[in-house]
Amino acid sequence: MSQELVLNAHNLKQHYHVKQGLFKPEATVKAVDGVSFTLDRGKTLAVVGESGCGKSTLGRMLTMIETPTEGQLNFLGEDLLSLSKEQQKELRQKIQIIFQNPYGSLNPRKKIGSILEEPLVINTQLNKAERKAKALAMMAKVGLKTEHYDRYPHMFSGGQRQRIAIARGLMLDPEIIVADEPVSALDVSVQAQVLNLMMDLQQEFGLSYVFISHDLSVVEHIADEVMVMYLGKVVEHGKSEDVFTNPKHPYTQALLSSTPQLSSDKRRQRIKLQGELPSPLNPPSGCAFHGRCQYANERCRKETPALRNNADAHLIACHAVEEERLENFSGAA
Ligand SMILES: Nc1ncnc2c1ncn2[C@@H]1O[C@H](COP(=O)(O)OP(=O)(O)OP(=O)(O)O)[C@@H](O)[C@H]1O
Ligand code: SF4
Ligand SMILES: [Mg+2]
Repeated sequence: MSQELVLNAHNLKQHYHVKQGLFKPEATVKAVDGVSFTLDRGKTLAVVGESGCGKSTLGRMLTMIETPTEGQLNFLGEDLLSLSKEQQKELRQKIQIIFQNPYGSLNPRKKIGSILEEPLVINTQLNKAERKAKALAMMAKVGLKTEHYDRYPHMFSGGQRQRIAIARGLMLDPEIIVADEPVSALDVSVQAQVLNLMMDLQQEFGLSYVFISHDLSVVEHIADEVMVMYLGKVVEHGKSEDVFTNPKHPYTQALLSSTPQLSSDKRRQRIKLQGELPSPLNPPSGCAFHGRCQYANERCRKETPALRNNADAHLIACHAVEEERLENFSGAA
């Protein structure tokens, strides 16, 4: 099957200037610092990493909620960042975002029907009956019943609310869904149901997903590719099976071995993630992971490793991998 490129992000950066106090100079937080990737139709790119590594900031740039400080964003051949506001508004409908908190993101004073129809009122010429028909059809697709149309969000469970949020995200027939921790607030049993629903909808509508999660076990089955971020930078990016079975970057290895829900053969030896995540206001020199890495040496403290193609489109930013001085990540726990 031929692959169609839907989104091409090149060297995206988001640098925030923050005040530290009355007499201190402004500091810069490099929340996202040069992220590039491509996304094909019908595929899922998982973006993983600890809290604060820049996942949501990346998601806000992809959905044009925030304009990047630098970089290019190409959607179906259109250079999104050079378009007029009017043109942007139009294409924006095609890239929707779903948030973690299905409680906060649904207006408690509106019934499900009007929550779902709102995007149609704003962005389409559909009349009332057509809007209702479309809302009911979408409710059926996400496993909600017709009688739910007149109910309020508080009458639903967390999993059902996330189904409503997904349905709302699909009302304008998007090409891409950026899902920012879509199941993190849900019980594990409900997580699987929502993930299965998302995979079914992906098949049916040919959707492409950017699936953001701090939890690797959540993305294992849904991701085609995994991109691991650390302090605003990509440290490893590859096909999902390569990253899960043959993780190369010491940070990915540590993340994987501390993920309890993964099948035991994938957990392998336990590498403890030592120390705290450094402050993004004062990031370490060289490789930002060096203070927590058992392989760190002088070069690591001085020189930032570039993201290199290791083999078969498996990208890694690590001097030790390049120098082949990393022990193999293998052997049962
Ligand atoms: N508007 C802003 N102004 C200043 N700093 C910001 C702003 N938004 C985010 N940051 C900082 O940018 C960094 C990345 O934040 P971001 O929310 O993207 O991380 P994340 O990976 O989504 O984390 P989490 O897993 O907790 O959701 C953090 O250090 C955060 O404090
Ligand atoms: S570059 Fe050095 S410090 Fe960074 S992950 Fe590789 S070995 Fe560790
Ligand atoms: Mg976030």
